[in-house]
Amino acid sequence: MKITTSMWLWAAFLVMLVGGVHADTPANCTFDDVRGDWIIYETERTGHANIDCDNMGPIVHKKTVKLMYPNVAVDEFGNHGTWTMIYNQGFEIKVSGRDLTIRNWACYRAQKKESVAPKNYTLQHTLQEHALYKYNEAFIQSINGAQNNWVADVYPEYELMTMMDHLRRAGGRASKVVSGAIATPANIITRLRSARMPATWDWRNVSGISYVSSVRNQASCGSCYAFASMGGLEAGVRILTNNTQQPIFSPQDIVGCSHLSQGCDGGFPFLIAGRYAQDVGVVLEECSPYEGKDDVCRTNPNCVRHYTANYRYVGGYFGGCNEEEMKIALVRGGPLVVGLEVYDDFLHYRGGIYHHTGLNDKFNPLELTNHAVLLVGYGADEETGEKFWIVKNSWGENWGEDGYFKIRRSTDECAIESMAVEVVPIP
Ligand SMILES: *[C@@H]1O[C@H](CO)[C@@H](O)[C@H](O)[C@H]1NC(C)=O
Ligand SMILES: *[C@@H]1O[C@H](CO)[C@@H](O)[C@H](O)[C@H]1NC(C)=O
Ligand SMILES: *[C@@H]1O[C@H](CO)[C@@H](O)[C@H](O)[C@H]1NC(C)=O
Ligand SMILES: *[C@@H]1O[C@H](CO)[C@@H](O)[C@H](O)[C@H]1NC(C)=O
Repeated sequence: MKITTSMWLWAAFLVMLVGGVHADTPANCTFDDVRGDWIIYETERTGHANIDCDNMGPIVHKKTVKLMYPNVAVDEFGNHGTWTMIYNQGFEIKVSGRDLTIRNWACYRAQKKESVAPKNYTLQHTLQEHALYKYNEAFIQSINGAQNNWVADVYPEYELMTMMDHLRRAGGRASKVVSGAIATPANIITRLRSARMPATWDWRNVSGISYVSSVRNQASCGSCYAFASMGGLEAGVRILTNNTQQPIFSPQDIVGCSHLSQGCDGGFPFLIAGRYAQDVGVVLEECSPYEGKDDVCRTNPNCVRHYTANYRYVGGYFGGCNEEEMKIALVRGGPLVVGLEVYDDFLHYRGGIYHHTGLNDKFNPLELTNHAVLLVGYGADEETGEKFWIVKNSWGENWGEDGYFKIRRSTDECAIESMAVEVVPIP
């Protein structure tokens, strides 16, 4: 991490990607690395949303901003605003507001005032990437023997996929950086508000009506973040228009064209459903049908773009998330884009309320990854009372419970309560 040298802010006074999303090794910054005083250098504000900040123009503005706990940002004139980490990849600052009707972009470089000792980090490369996945019947039996909450099953098609295919499908190697996020306990006001939410909720059946688009299949491309993000925007439009508009947005435009993700190697929903959809906009599926490849951008340039009006981490900033905030945001606003840690046992989920069995250690063929999915509801088991979330996956309708899964709620199972994103599309 080169926190003392240059970094990019991409788009109007907002996103900063430490290390850059194009870097081969992910950046890894902590809250304490980023908190403090920053000097921000800005180029002329005349750029297009797809501005190339690898080749920055001359610096014309300079400003300073102080980033404080937990999410307070103050500029040199004393204007107060907010900021958030974007996982450990960068941060976003909103200070003197931003007029969405002025759609000009600039490049930024930022420098932290006090220097920070450079950190070293390494990536593991232990996976036999090209080997075909092999079933381990004993693994599936041991999952089903060890607990009664959920059922593991054989998916014969898995043996046609390589280890790398599985790794991509479960989030992609680059997405590993998402691990380690933790949920924050709710304060008393949030707990009171949350207690007033319905006991159960399902956006697939609100008084008999569904506001959720169909389950899709990302295939062997680490595009879960794009599918989850598009799914969130699709549901948002349906809710805001009482189902009179039911667009299907294009994940291919994201993996092939977005500068804010790593294509089939992963990406962050906050940057796609939020930043990209606000600055560049998303397109309908027919403008760039899904191919599951990220080598070229083939989006029809004549297509209309659809935008996000607003987006944020549930709880207001990265690290502010918890079950209660998620329930409120889900019921009030619509489905949430969430991340979860994918362990081997999850691949074999067939039904029930998932929790990580911890049994993978002996059998573990895969690396831990982070997968983005769409949270659509919650409830509790009628017999056992076990609380769960209802989540839409992007592994086709034949996986899990018609493409969905249930997972333990209120225990931050697999970090699912640690970094939910809410988005408000413009229909
Ligand atoms: C990082 O690695 C370099 C070169 O291997 C070493 O000199 C330095 O002490 C390391 N720094 C830390 C913080 O471990
Ligand atoms: C990031 O850094 C933290 C603390 O410095 C460390 O615990 C964590 O394992 C690192 N994550 C990655 C993906 O390198
Ligand atoms: C929707 O929910 C209602 C009430 O819980 C239930 O009676 C109905 O069968 C559900 N509809 C579908 C399509 O699942
Ligand atoms: C929403 O759509 C439903 C079903 O088409 C209709 O019955 C209802 O009146 C609509 N609500 C509003 C507020 O337009």
